[in-house]
Amino acid sequence: MTLAEKKMKKMQKELINAKGAPLYKYRIKNNYMPVVGAGDCNAHIMIVGEAPGKNEALSGKPFCGRTGNILDELLESISLDRESVYITNILKDRPQKNRDPTEGEIAWYAPYLDKQIEIIAPHVIVTLGRFSMKYLFERYGVQTDIKEISNLHGSVHVATINNREVKIVALYHPAASIYNQKLKTVLQEDFQILKQFI
Ligand code: URA
Repeated sequence: MTLAEKKMKKMQKELINAKGAPLYKYRIKNNYMPVVGAGDCNAHIMIVGEAPGKNEALSGKPFCGRTGNILDELLESISLDRESVYITNILKDRPQKNRDPTEGEIAWYAPYLDKQIEIIAPHVIVTLGRFSMKYLFERYGVQTDIKEISNLHGSVHVATINNREVKIVALYHPAASIYNQKLKTVLQEDFQILKQFI
């Protein structure tokens, strides 16, 4: 096991025992697991979603349900193997009925994401959806006049994270495309942007 993998394992143990986590009680009541992340801990590309859904919370793996299938298709379309990237979320626990994360929850779980970014030191971070985009832009000083994902999707930004230049690519969340074919086409097109980083 590499040092990075050990650090992720340690994080998982910490989260399992984190009684102060805002969604801890809900997790225990439903026999859910915290979802730390999966993939290559030395990945060049890191993908950050919003929060685990039911399938993810039951299995402990990110993006393994219906939305995960869409993500897999998108990765496949650019010949990018899921195992060669690192996939995680801002929240490590499932919010009730998949509701939007609250500001308090994001603030509580985000340090784990920051730590993961430090451990993996990716060259590219792909944000899926507005919550992930907003958090990473604000946290790592990406300034934009426009704030809406409807205008920012498919854009590449440069941030300095831990003294390194990191590209942040804002994309729509794959779940948004489940009932919206137009959005699915946009996501498929936006995903092509990632080819230059493979
Ligand atoms: N949606 C997310 O944002 N993350 C997951 O892991 C699954 C669905």
